[in-house]
Amino acid sequence: MDNRPVGIYDSGIGGLTGLRALRQLLPGESFVFFSDSGRMPYGPRPREELRTIARQDMDFLAQFHVKAILAACGTISSAARPVLAAYPVPAFGVVDPALDALCAVPGDRPLGVIATAASIDSGEFTDALRSRCPGREIIGVPCPEFAPIIEAGHISPGDPLLRDCVARTLEGIRGVEFGALLLGCTHYGIIEDAIRDYLGPDAPLLSASECAARALRDYLVQNDLTGGEPGGLRFFVSGDRAAFERFAGPYLECGPVHAEPAPLMEL
Ligand code: DGL
Repeated sequence: MDNRPVGIYDSGIGGLTGLRALRQLLPGESFVFFSDSGRMPYGPRPREELRTIARQDMDFLAQFHVKAILAACGTISSAARPVLAAYPVPAFGVVDPALDALCAVPGDRPLGVIATAASIDSGEFTDALRSRCPGREIIGVPCPEFAPIIEAGHISPGDPLLRDCVARTLEGIRGVEFGALLLGCTHYGIIEDAIRDYLGPDAPLLSASECAARALRDYLVQNDLTGGEPGGLRFFVSGDRAAFERFAGPYLECGPVHAEPAPLMEL
């Protein structure tokens, strides 16, 4: 047993989809969550910058003596894989667990990934799927507008700005009969209903955050690192703390959230 907290980070509220899944799987765990919303979006940034950001975000979390770190961010997970692998605290991303889950989907229907431009351009999702699932059609769609619009609070399925944005972005894949469609950016779980409204209620959406949460749970269990006390929660935010608090409390169903200030780190 190990009562040190687990650290989680993202460019914003998207990482809360990972935290929510982890809290359900591991109720005895404590968490330190870092929302680097002062530097969001990560999606349009070049790879080297994302690697620096990954290092800085993990150094920030490491000061809280975390036993493991989840990059609850598809963009960091795909751009900064070597940084995560070399980090002195065990650090995990969302790419590998999501790929494992996609490759396990039976049948021959296409596999899809929607994610940020950086994640799709990196090929870490789509190229890897093409080599792991030869003969299967793989479709990747960059959604550059999604994370910023979600972070700006347009999350209700009835929100006209969100509906238009979803329709404009996903027009090319409406009607495709996917075996699974991965939400490869952690923000997208927050607008799952809007995506279903457009693609259809039975769209086989797969959450990269939930895949990663299960993989991290398995790692903690297998290494006897799970915590044994009712979970504490600390939140640090480099951007708008009030907006974060308004969303996080109801989303996590944990009562009022207090977010502490985090530094806006220079690149
Ligand atoms: N939540 C992120 C991801 O999973 C980052 C979105 C962004 O900042 O562009 O990719």
